[in-house]
Amino acid sequence: MAEQATVVITGSGGRIGAILRRALAGKYRLRGIDRVPTPGVPGALVASLTDLDAILPVFTGADAVVHLAADPRHTPDIGWDTLIPDNVVATANVYEAARQGGVKRFVFFSSMHVCGMYENDAPWSRVATGDYAGLDPAGVPLVTAEMPARPDGPYAVSKMFGEALGKYCAEAYGMEVVVVRLGTVGREDGPGSDARSFVSWLSHRDLAHLTERAIDAPHVTYEVVFGASDNTWKIYDTLRARSRLGYAPRDNAEHFRATRAR
Ligand SMILES: NC(=O)c1ccc[n+]([C@@H]2O[C@H](COP(=O)([O-])OP(=O)(O)OC[C@H]3O[C@@H](n4cnc5c(N)ncnc54)[C@H](O)[C@@H]3O)[C@@H](O)[C@H]2O)c1
Repeated sequence: MAEQATVVITGSGGRIGAILRRALAGKYRLRGIDRVPTPGVPGALVASLTDLDAILPVFTGADAVVHLAADPRHTPDIGWDTLIPDNVVATANVYEAARQGGVKRFVFFSSMHVCGMYENDAPWSRVATGDYAGLDPAGVPLVTAEMPARPDGPYAVSKMFGEALGKYCAEAYGMEVVVVRLGTVGREDGPGSDARSFVSWLSHRDLAHLTERAIDAPHVTYEVVFGASDNTWKIYDTLRARSRLGYAPRDNAEHFRATRAR
């Protein structure tokens, strides 16, 4: 990708948007869109992504899009009343605006929850709950991007819409699409005390690096990776991002184990 590529971040005013706009500001020319203000990105548009006409100009001439905006709640009772506008219509509009704007690279932030039902089955259920007795972390088979998705709720189903639309845009329009099935990024930069955090945690610097690789990696048509730090206990094939994108994580939740009460 060209020096100082122009990158549109949707959801730039949110939690991950705040981490990325700080980490990526010196590397790319950033544009932002959110329905709440985006500090630190001059000229960021305050608008709803459900309004295609309002957001189109932001995409014109950009090199890449990092699509973060969504309702990120993944509780089973989350309603379609917000998932349809914020995760489905908004995502459709962002792909369409990227297409009309001539954007080549599209990074879609999905979630491990699209495969979350695997966590009900052994041995992954044991890893996810911290029942490690007799388990060797290196011997746990990994849920891969080739395995069928098993969404664990309406939020995860809404993310599958964005993944499928990305596949369509890649094949129909030649867009280069990277789907990042994200683990857990906290406001504070460290894993929680629950066992699943030791699987899914993604540190802020690994998040920024993974996003850069998703923007810049060559030879992408349509790629699906799982996003976590180099955590010892894995359920998902987070190694794929290394081979496909050149991701080299530096953090591991295990280094926090002694400081977390369990
Ligand atoms: N934080 C995590 O651990 C995590 C894990 C997996 C996936 N993700 C995904 O990463 C992305 C970012 O998550 P986050 O934690 O920063 O969430 P967040 O809620 O902090 O940020 C999302 C931002 O999107 C904006 N937004 C939502 N709908 C919009 C619309 N219709 N128009 C304009 N703006 C809109 C919100 O105002 C918000 O600022 C989401 O897609 C989420 O599903 C996050």
